[in-house]
Amino acid sequence: MKIANLTLPNNLLLAPMANITNLAFRMLCKKYGAALTYSEMISANAVVRQGEKTMQRGLTCEDEQPFCIQIFGNSPDTMTEAALILEEVYRPAIIDINMGCPAPLIVKQDCGSALLRSPSLVHDIVSNLTDNISTPVSAKIRVFDDMEKTLEIARTIESAGACAITVHGRTKEQMYSGTSSLEYAKAIKKELFIPVIANGDIKDGESAKHALEYTECDGLMIGRAAIGHPSIFRQISYYLENEETLETDNCTQQVNDFMEYIELVKKYDIFSLGDIKAQSKAFTKGVAGSRHIREKLNDAKTFCSIIDVINGMCDET
Ligand SMILES: Cc1cc2nc3c(=O)[nH]c(=O)nc-3n(C[C@H](O)[C@H](O)[C@H](O)COP(=O)(O)O)c2cc1C
Repeated sequence: MKIANLTLPNNLLLAPMANITNLAFRMLCKKYGAALTYSEMISANAVVRQGEKTMQRGLTCEDEQPFCIQIFGNSPDTMTEAALILEEVYRPAIIDINMGCPAPLIVKQDCGSALLRSPSLVHDIVSNLTDNISTPVSAKIRVFDDMEKTLEIARTIESAGACAITVHGRTKEQMYSGTSSLEYAKAIKKELFIPVIANGDIKDGESAKHALEYTECDGLMIGRAAIGHPSIFRQISYYLENEETLETDNCTQQVNDFMEYIELVKKYDIFSLGDIKAQSKAFTKGVAGSRHIREKLNDAKTFCSIIDVINGMCDET
């Protein structure tokens, strides 16, 4: 897949996810074949204020390239100022604009999916960025119930100079409920010249194959299916190439991947017990007796006790 000036090895992208896609997690997904990884959304206002914790969210390393940084905000000037700082410090391949987050905290600040209410503001944000930074700019949107309104936003993003658009086929009101519609990505792909990435509910080889064939999009972005299960990228690639499922021992895979995640957070100096505990629960996904294992993890007070529970989880049935 080609995006901006990049030729990616495949068309599977890791979605930006707050409190999940830190550098360690992204590197694990990259190892399993994610062609492009996204930081979690970063507040443009906080970057401009030089918030140290905020800046850490953009942390990357040479081996991760190419990667994207996603920012959120609502002021064209502040977002450009933040993007200039981030491109100088982290040299991302792409800077993505969050136009999809439905969280009340973000929408209340007129950021995320709230931007979609105003095509002229969407235009100003994208064009101000593309005119003033050297990094290519993309946008990630949600959809409206109304197809024409959705197409209007997509056209606006393209005409303002974006290098790509990601379409999560849910409305802001849906939050994460119901199903994600592929109709919008398909219609946008038909109209636009820039690469279009379909997102929403892609969880295995079959759903990935269907989404690619149905929408004819350039790429797929995978979010929740990768949480606690970064090897999903290998499974999906295998299915797309061979049209059969890669048989693996999921439990052993997830124990090993969690241990590697810990090594990576140590390596990149981003260790936090709260994060390890949250991630440990995610890595029990799909494992037999996972409810019981998560109860034990809830009770685990120390790093060593979390490790013990995960190490023993394949013995639970
Ligand atoms: C925990 C979590 C955090 C998320 N954080 C972000 C974010 O920072 N920026 C963004 O554009 N989308 C964010 N999303 C939305 C995902 O990127 C993606 O669009 C959505 O989950 C649908 O894709 P999926 O069905 O593959 O999960 C988040 C989703 C989840 C579940």
